[in-house]
Amino acid sequence: MTKSIRWGILSTANIARAAVIPAIQAAAGNEVVAVASRDAERAAAFATRLDIPRSYGSYEALLDDAEIDAIYIALPNSLHFAWTVAAAAAGKHVLCEKPLALDAAQCHEMADAAEECGVTLMEAFMYRFHPQITAALDLVRNGAIGDMQHMHAAFTFRITNPANIRLQADLAGGSLMDVGCYCVNALRTFAGREPVEVQASARWHANGVDERMTGTLWFDDGVTGQFDSALSLARRETFLAAGTDATLEIPRAYLPGTDDTTVRVRQNYRDGRDLAIPGVDEYRLMVEHFAHCVRTGATPRYGPREAACNMAAIEALYRSARTQSSRVAVPTC
Ligand SMILES: NC(=O)c1ccc[n+]([C@@H]2O[C@H](COP(=O)([O-])OP(=O)(O)OC[C@H]3O[C@@H](n4cnc5c(N)ncnc54)[C@H](OP(=O)(O)O)[C@@H]3O)[C@@H](O)[C@H]2O)c1
Repeated sequence: MTKSIRWGILSTANIARAAVIPAIQAAAGNEVVAVASRDAERAAAFATRLDIPRSYGSYEALLDDAEIDAIYIALPNSLHFAWTVAAAAAGKHVLCEKPLALDAAQCHEMADAAEECGVTLMEAFMYRFHPQITAALDLVRNGAIGDMQHMHAAFTFRITNPANIRLQADLAGGSLMDVGCYCVNALRTFAGREPVEVQASARWHANGVDERMTGTLWFDDGVTGQFDSALSLARRETFLAAGTDATLEIPRAYLPGTDDTTVRVRQNYRDGRDLAIPGVDEYRLMVEHFAHCVRTGATPRYGPREAACNMAAIEALYRSARTQSSRVAVPTC
């Protein structure tokens, strides 16, 4: 494919408007050509505002547009599965928002659908494309903190609008699904393997979703990872890896914006170093990687089978939180 990748956007979501559409528009060889909404007027207004040539009053109509190569799905979590499968069947490559689906089984079905239809499918977990994560992973893997034995990840923020999709159980909201999924992903990525057991406790919102979740993941060799996620606390998004020689910290681990960031390695309070990472748009880096895979047929660095492993851990954490924090084995993903 030598011409531009032509993107269609499913929904007028905030994340599409604020981050992913600008990233696609900024990525060389990519253009946003259409947006669809459940409401034709909303789609048209959104298209005008974001300089998108075509708009549709239904998601189906956008999938029927033969002049679209790739779809970005920015729908509530409960709709990711059905629209990814439909887009793949329509022959479109799919970049779908996190978490990719409701459980590991759905992720595998989505992977199968993409493979059968010969399209690329990737979960839009943009934080992993930020060079601060690559740098931190290199440091841990190259022994900069000694033997890593424990990790902590946190992602919290506060929602005040009760209509927010994150507070709706039927749309698969909840803190673990929304932001805890980053923590679980970071713990698994830095551990470099899958957890064998988990334990969690939740504070449940009146709507039935977890407003807060704290959890522990056990990896083999006794390595542990803990996290907390919340939709009711001040903004906090940290990652910490504790080793025998030093501690590594990423103070703005998931959504640093385009500001410069820092990875800290400390032997104690006095000694250590700060690695300065120049600011970058992690969403654009994600789009560029996805576009490279579409053009070359390369396998995405983080495909739907990897998403299945994240969901297997998340499913086990929910099971634990719903059964008085029992220790739950994580099924093979
Ligand atoms: N990667 C990231 O940085 C990041 C950040 C935030 C969110 N996300 C993910 O992106 C997705 C969207 O999040 P968001 O905060 O952008 O959502 P949002 O602003 O609430 O938008 C969701 C959109 O989905 C469409 N929709 C279809 N059925 C709906 C229903 N029953 N209820 C509500 N909306 C419905 C609506 O668009 P139309 O009415 O136009 O069809 C709505 O604008 C979620 O999966 C979330 O986890 C990712």
